[in-house]
Amino acid sequence: MARKFSRIFTILLSLFIASAILIPASRTSTTARAELVDTQLDSRPDEQQRQNYWAQGGNDIVHEIWSVLRDFEPTWKDSVTPARPTGLLGTVWHYTRIIFRALFMNTPTRDDNDAPKVKGDLKKGVDSLKAAASFDDPDAMFLLAEMNFYGNFSHPRSFETANYWYRQLADLDGNATAQYMLGLMYATGIGGLERDQAKALLYHTFAAEQGNIKSEMTLAYRYHAGIGCPRSCDKAVSYYKRVADKAMTYWQSGPPGGNSFVRNSYRWVEVDGGIYGEGASVSSSGPNAPRDGITAAHIDYVLDYLDTKERQGDFNAIITLGKHYYEAPRGYKRNFRKAQRQFMKIARVYWTKDGKVSPKAPKGIERIAGKAAAYIGRMLLRGEGMEQNFEKAQTWFKRGIALGDSFAQYHMGLMYRDGLGVPQDGARAGTYLKAAAEQSLPLAQSALGVLFLDQGDIDTAGRYFELAAGAGVMESFYYLAELTNQGVGRERNCGLAAAYYKVVAERAEVLHSSFVEANSAYERGDFERAYVASIMAAEHGYENAQANVAHLLDYKTSVISLPNLGIPLLSTKKPSPKKSKLLNDPYLALVYFTRSAKQANVDSLIKMGDYYLSLSSPASAALTLFPTDDNGEAKSNLEKATTCYTTAAETHHSAQALWNLGWMHENGIGSVTQDFHMAKRYYDLALEMNKEAYLPVTLALAKLRLRSWWNGVSGGKVNGIKDEEGDDEEQRRPKTWIEWVNRFLDAAEEMDAREAEALARERDGDDELLGYAEPGGMAGGGGNAEYADRHAHGQQGGGGAGRVEGDVYGADEWDEIDDGLIESLIIIALAGALALLVYARQARQRGLEEERRQAQHQNQNQNQNQVQGFAQGAAPQQQHQQEQQQQPPIPGHQPEGEGPPGQDRGMFPPPGDLDWNNWVAGGIGH
Ligand SMILES: *[C@@H]1O[C@H](CO)[C@@H](O)[C@H](O)[C@H]1NC(C)=O
Ligand SMILES: *[C@@H]1O[C@H](CO)[C@@H](O)[C@H](O)[C@H]1NC(C)=O
Repeated sequence: MARKFSRIFTILLSLFIASAILIPASRTSTTARAELVDTQLDSRPDEQQRQNYWAQGGNDIVHEIWSVLRDFEPTWKDSVTPARPTGLLGTVWHYTRIIFRALFMNTPTRDDNDAPKVKGDLKKGVDSLKAAASFDDPDAMFLLAEMNFYGNFSHPRSFETANYWYRQLADLDGNATAQYMLGLMYATGIGGLERDQAKALLYHTFAAEQGNIKSEMTLAYRYHAGIGCPRSCDKAVSYYKRVADKAMTYWQSGPPGGNSFVRNSYRWVEVDGGIYGEGASVSSSGPNAPRDGITAAHIDYVLDYLDTKERQGDFNAIITLGKHYYEAPRGYKRNFRKAQRQFMKIARVYWTKDGKVSPKAPKGIERIAGKAAAYIGRMLLRGEGMEQNFEKAQTWFKRGIALGDSFAQYHMGLMYRDGLGVPQDGARAGTYLKAAAEQSLPLAQSALGVLFLDQGDIDTAGRYFELAAGAGVMESFYYLAELTNQGVGRERNCGLAAAYYKVVAERAEVLHSSFVEANSAYERGDFERAYVASIMAAEHGYENAQANVAHLLDYKTSVISLPNLGIPLLSTKKPSPKKSKLLNDPYLALVYFTRSAKQANVDSLIKMGDYYLSLSSPASAALTLFPTDDNGEAKSNLEKATTCYTTAAETHHSAQALWNLGWMHENGIGSVTQDFHMAKRYYDLALEMNKEAYLPVTLALAKLRLRSWWNGVSGGKVNGIKDEEGDDEEQRRPKTWIEWVNRFLDAAEEMDAREAEALARERDGDDELLGYAEPGGMAGGGGNAEYADRHAHGQQGGGGAGRVEGDVYGADEWDEIDDGLIESLIIIALAGALALLVYARQARQRGLEEERRQAQHQNQNQNQNQVQGFAQGAAPQQQHQQEQQQQPPIPGHQPEGEGPPGQDRGMFPPPGDLDWNNWVAGGIGH
């Protein structure tokens, strides 16, 4: 490729130079042409030179260069590829890639730090373009700008240079594309440019006036949400309407039934279960769990399953596969051939060659056959995968209609409505559409609504539109928007109209946003390219894109995330922005999390909280980016964080938010008083919301219990544990490990029992619960304070204490891992301790139970013995039993609760006896 490029380019260049020398029109022209090749133009060319440039085809040369450069473009396949692997080999490859990426490719592929130089042929091309640009060649300026912005033709990105050239171009002829790009740059400050919302608004407005759909989209969203300008519903509606009109025009320009809009926008994090991981994120837990689970990850399994079913002769599987090929979910290519083959398989079973119903047709496939006929008809009607043929299409629709298929009825209605292969006939169209609509086919409901609207029956039309909109039909959203906006047949409602228009506008993503490019770049691990592509869509107001951009910019994982066991390898896809200057913009991350949260993304809302929380930490290095010089700001950030969490917890039942609140209570962050009891309640609620959080919650509770136990033991002042009755020295100071353990066990048991009481106490609101920093008056109190203090610092601000102040970016990568690692180790240690304690506790309970049972058994035995008259032996045994009960069990030492029973009793329990089983069970352990 490079060699080919170089050769062509050399030829071109020498031709160019030769022509400049051999065909001199005049002396000035020769110099002008020589200068074209020269980079360093000292002075702007004069009028004469300019005329020569244009007269002698300088612009053509720019186009030649362009086409040569295009050969130089690496051919990314921005095509849709399965997001998930297919088959075993694919799976292996998929995970190999993940591991590989985790090991070596945590950085974007290109390292922008030592700004790569433009060299060789590319440099020659760029120099020529620069020269051409000095003759005010817009194409040259445009190319230069694009290369610097997108990094086309392997040119390194430079946003400043791009900004310069776009500005030149915009000043030159008011080029709308350039204006849009300038608006984008000023709005986002991408790549460290200056942010200036006023300029952004200005440039976008200019571009939108020239009909630039991207600027229209941006402005609509800005006025809708009040970003960089005052909120204005009317303006939002007017811009959204422009985009929606274009969307409708595009839709109607398609084959019968309209152009199809493929949706490629999705949240990248959700493939991996959401920002906080599977189960912890709202997007993948609770009510969202099953739905999202099906869409992204499991399509391939479904396909495999359907394949198997098909081979077993399941007609339902055949048609489902057909629809899959025809409609193709995100990430898959449509395949009309395969779709048609599937549908024909069914049709051939049901109909004979001459169109009669086959006598051999299996019973019960009428419905499926009708559907298949409708699809075949649709493909013929639209010319998909085969030649367009209205006549044949109609034949198939008739077959479908004979079986009562609504999809066939709908298409037949369209044919009559638009006069496709049949004379136009509104009445018949209405009949067919109505039949289909009554079978609740949303498309037909929408089309019928339009018919009613044409006849002036706005009420009926509106009802049909609402039905269809419920199923997400774009057309009906558009008409609802129009009716609502103009107040026809209903009250005018600007907000609602804007919402409807927004749906329509965003549905037309092919017209203004490049999700396919962004997605495939992300899949490749080219995060910068993914970022550039999706920041545009984010500015257009797509919540998905905002979440994606924020995810790319998110410079650290959650401050207090549910520990998904903190193994760095697991977060493979996480781009490491430290290595990429472009992605190093926490301010923008917060901006997009906020916007995404405002569009009802709960995970983003919690993320917002995390950001504010980290800002509130004095040790946090983020402060260098958000200078806050007084404590008040830190406090207000804390409050914001709390608000975010509370909102997410209360209105959206987010387990993560509950968890975070629990953590804040555990550590007493900000205005939240340290309160182990409340913390436990939040942790419990988190578990209740989300069963998947069992492990982390259990661990956290263990830690909490440990802390509250310590708090109680050492006489700390935090609510939840404090033992009010027994305050004597002895109880506070356990002497041996065993005693400690027992104390813990008691505390744990009591804690549950005390819950209600503590609740009441807390409601009374006597706040003697002081901060942990106060050294306790009693021995051991200081220890508690220290522990809590250290602990709070360790977690707050993502290990703010462990990090060199103000040096988030210079610090090496291990920082992040270290924090996670230390936390993981703590957790693992705690888990170990917990396991031990739980084990001990269970052992003790088992021991107690055992004793109870033995006592019972003894009683029985005794009775038996008494009845049988063998009273000897029973008495000493009973005595022994009593002794055993008085003896405190030593957990951990005698895990099974009792020694081999034989030892105690001097004999083995007979098989079949209740004790025999116990003995065997105990025996296994020894
Ligand atoms: C802007 O300029 C470029 C280069 O001349 C051109 O290709 C593009 O069509 C222009 N855009 C508009 C909207 O005029
Ligand atoms: C440069 O790349 C971007 C995105 O990849 C693309 O949209 C644009 O059309 C390209 N520009 C040129 C001049 O090829």
